[in-house]
Amino acid sequence: MGNITVVGSINADLVTTSDCFPMVGETITGNTFTILAGGKGANQAVSAAKLGADVSFIGCVGDDTNGQFLLKNMENNQINTGGIEVLNDLPTGVAQITVARDDNTIIFVPGANHLLTEAVVNKHIEMIYQADVVLLQLEIPLKTVEYVVELCAKKGIKVILNPAPSYDLAQSLLNNVTYLTPNEVELEKIFGEDRAVVLEKYPNKVIMTCGGEGAYYHNGSRVVNVKGLPVKVVDTTGAGDSFNGALAYALTKNYQLTDAIKFANKVASKTVQGLGAQTAMPTLQELQN
Ligand code: RIB
Repeated sequence: MGNITVVGSINADLVTTSDCFPMVGETITGNTFTILAGGKGANQAVSAAKLGADVSFIGCVGDDTNGQFLLKNMENNQINTGGIEVLNDLPTGVAQITVARDDNTIIFVPGANHLLTEAVVNKHIEMIYQADVVLLQLEIPLKTVEYVVELCAKKGIKVILNPAPSYDLAQSLLNNVTYLTPNEVELEKIFGEDRAVVLEKYPNKVIMTCGGEGAYYHNGSRVVNVKGLPVKVVDTTGAGDSFNGALAYALTKNYQLTDAIKFANKVASKTVQGLGAQTAMPTLQELQN
């Protein structure tokens, strides 16, 4: 027990901090600039690996310096990178991130992430079949996500789909995932319905994250709010990713859903207290301090 396979994105995060966000057409002077390891898939993998899970990754980077840096970073986090293809056709994905006023804006350019096809998945299919939990997001082609989710459903493997960035999702995909973890904005975009209605329609499946408020799900009888922890926020980048990685970890440890969400909230609350996505994610020991 404890094998997690992430099928997802890997990005270089170009992070600028500033006192405020520029207006459209405006140039402002920022404070700092750093290139950090990111990508929703990679962040979720690092979150679970830092907690002690055995994590394997299926993804794509370009044959460039960002790709080398990101592969090395994943290896340093003890992630099995055997499922990562280094491709010539497109550069490694990047995300242009601005951090200001306790919030951020992100422009994601997929690059090689969009070459993560069914063929790449098939090449590393054993990584899917050996997993206790498979974790996916939507920075890779939707067709690939649908394919992996269907494979898992057939084999009875638990799947968490973090629908970020959000798209219209087919009913079959919603039926096949074990857990869907949108934030409140993504939930409204995907379903176009009131959040209470959606949670009730998908009991013990849709887990809506809500920043400092924690997360909500319907347990079959009522909506449960698993409360977040009040902390001083430095950077929210990767908070959702750390939540998803931690949720996957807790599920491999057979936590009950409420306890798994409580644990994931705690990990996310640590993550927002430092700059960057992966750098601020806690180990199990740091979580206990
Ligand atoms: O969720 C945060 C991540 O989204 C960043 O690391 C960035 O790469 C973007 O994809």
